[in-house]
Amino acid sequence: MNKWIVGNWKMNGMMSSCRDLAAGLVTLEQEKPVRATVVVCPPYPYLGVVALRLMDSSLHLGGQDCSAHEAGAFTGQVSAKMLKDLSCGYVIVGHSERRAQLNENNDLIRQKAQQSLAASLTPIICVGENLEERETGKAIDVVLSQVQQAVPKGKCLIAYEPVWAIGTGKTPNASQIGEIHQMIARQNPGTPILYGGSVKSSNASEILAIPHVHGLLVGGASLDTAEFWKIAEAA
Ligand code: G3P
Repeated sequence: MNKWIVGNWKMNGMMSSCRDLAAGLVTLEQEKPVRATVVVCPPYPYLGVVALRLMDSSLHLGGQDCSAHEAGAFTGQVSAKMLKDLSCGYVIVGHSERRAQLNENNDLIRQKAQQSLAASLTPIICVGENLEERETGKAIDVVLSQVQQAVPKGKCLIAYEPVWAIGTGKTPNASQIGEIHQMIARQNPGTPILYGGSVKSSNASEILAIPHVHGLLVGGASLDTAEFWKIAEAA
């Protein structure tokens, strides 16, 4: 199966650095083409400028979130259709930072994923347990229940991101990742499953070799062009 390498730039950079990051990736793609589908998800205000840089490349653009509504009186929100109009092909929904900081629940996340599908975007639906849930043996139950409630029918990607691995430099071991991915795959046959949480070029190959890992969702390391491209080359 084709692998996905997705860069989530989160709330980082300004217009010039986002443009430079995108331009750097386009140059690297010409010099060192990769097999993987590479997607970058810049902050909303810079989607347009990044889209222009990516135009003549095979790199894909994604949003970091979208509204659960199609259109209307939703001040400050951005619809899936708008993202599509800006040439996005993907959108991250249900990231654990939004679940924790903005109280997003599985129902809302499923509605966002449904809006994305209706706009012909591929939603990347994030799930993952926190440290306490991992330490008390609840990781599998928590993750499977998130998947069951948040993932609609349709062409989606699921991203398993253990909350305790995000930005911490800690990653689960291969058997922990493999176990969760296998359980998700059993519940959602045919749906690609990405891993996210402290991915770097030094651990990318090892994680990608785990059965049922179909790609990586990369945070911090996606802000460094050369480092991110090494991760893409590992796929
Ligand atoms: O969405 C990707 C992210 O949450 C992982 O972040 O910085 O640990 O790679 P990071």
